[in-house]
Amino acid sequence: MKIVLAYSGGLDTSVLVHWLKNEYNAEIITFAADVGQEEELDGLAEKAKATGASTHYTVDLVEEFARDFIYPMFRANTLYEGQYYCGTSIARPLIGKAHIEIARQEGAQAVAHGATGKGNDQCRFELTYAALAPDLQIISPWRNEKFRKAFPGRTEMINYCRDNNIPVEASSKKPYSMDRNLLHISYEAGILEDPWFDPTTEDNRDMYKLTTDPELAPDTPQYLELSFEKGDCVAVDGKEMSPAAVLKELNRIAGIHGIGRVDIVENRFVGMKSRGVYETPGGTILLHGRRQVESLTLDRDLCHLRDTLMPRYADLVYYGFWYAPEREALQAFIDESQKPVTGTVRLKLYKGSITTVGRKSPYSLYDADVASMEGVASDYNPDDASGFIRLQGLRLRARAAAQGGAIVE
Ligand code: ARG
Ligand code: SIN
Repeated sequence: MKIVLAYSGGLDTSVLVHWLKNEYNAEIITFAADVGQEEELDGLAEKAKATGASTHYTVDLVEEFARDFIYPMFRANTLYEGQYYCGTSIARPLIGKAHIEIARQEGAQAVAHGATGKGNDQCRFELTYAALAPDLQIISPWRNEKFRKAFPGRTEMINYCRDNNIPVEASSKKPYSMDRNLLHISYEAGILEDPWFDPTTEDNRDMYKLTTDPELAPDTPQYLELSFEKGDCVAVDGKEMSPAAVLKELNRIAGIHGIGRVDIVENRFVGMKSRGVYETPGGTILLHGRRQVESLTLDRDLCHLRDTLMPRYADLVYYGFWYAPEREALQAFIDESQKPVTGTVRLKLYKGSITTVGRKSPYSLYDADVASMEGVASDYNPDDASGFIRLQGLRLRARAAAQGGAIVE
């Protein structure tokens, strides 16, 4: 049997290589996805082989991640529960897809991942496998009783590595769990499980890796211009860039100004509430900027309709239904809606805040003559408003009359 394991080189997945090999009497192929986590990916092949893997693959997915996952998701202005930019959620279907491609290439019978049995990630990976490779066997060791009994804690894993000559660095474990990619870093579990714990105090704030504390950010604001085409950011300060380059550049700039921190309690797909702290520097600017260009170029009712669908779309991304027919159909609608969203927004960044200071577009629907309180408008006759408002108020007058004119509390 051949198993392809999603591998990071950390303690858990190092144990997994060895454990799976013995437990399933299998050949283990390891796979690591580069989605911009900026971790040490060099040397991973040697390490995997020294641990018992027959072959290792590291796949560079950074540009695909930005172009085919982050950008399409942003066209919907996606926020889960109004606050989470879905940084981890959106990487999972891409990692799952690449995982399957390696499994096919290797003629493997199974894919294995190290996500815990309590989280969202197991759902996202396995729903991706279900959609793209329903025939493959899925091995989820953290839901395997034997594995869980063998490794109730970190100490057992370290001992297992020592006894089996598995090379692991004796890195001290962080008091929380992190997941990094091009869009964000998430921090959860450990000390963060107390929803009252404050990670921004002087003692704790070195947790944040991508953003300066807003209180310590520069005292002078920075102006920034973002240019959009069909809803996608194509240039920063007039310089054209690929989607991944846009995100890298915006992460850098937003990081300096302490933009993009979010600390929330969210509802996981599997039911429980979970406290998460996020840094999404570039993404926060991108979404803010997109909205401004939309405000100038999008038809009101189209925009409002898209906005009513966004929370549903966000649920699909968060739960892991990227490769699902309703997500694809919604995407087609969202992409169609973005055709006129071309233009430039001017922003001012200062100590954690983003202020819009200008916007322009060749497709602007904004007409100063119509909007102005002073101008004699072309297509707008104030006399039309009398009947318009009168009819809008018809049912309200009827209700008031039925209530005898009294306002019911
Ligand atoms: N709660 C976030 C989400 O579900 C972050 C998950 C982080 N995952 C991880 N393996 N550390 O998208
Ligand atoms: C995990 O459980 O593997 C991480 C947290 C999550 O997926 O929600």
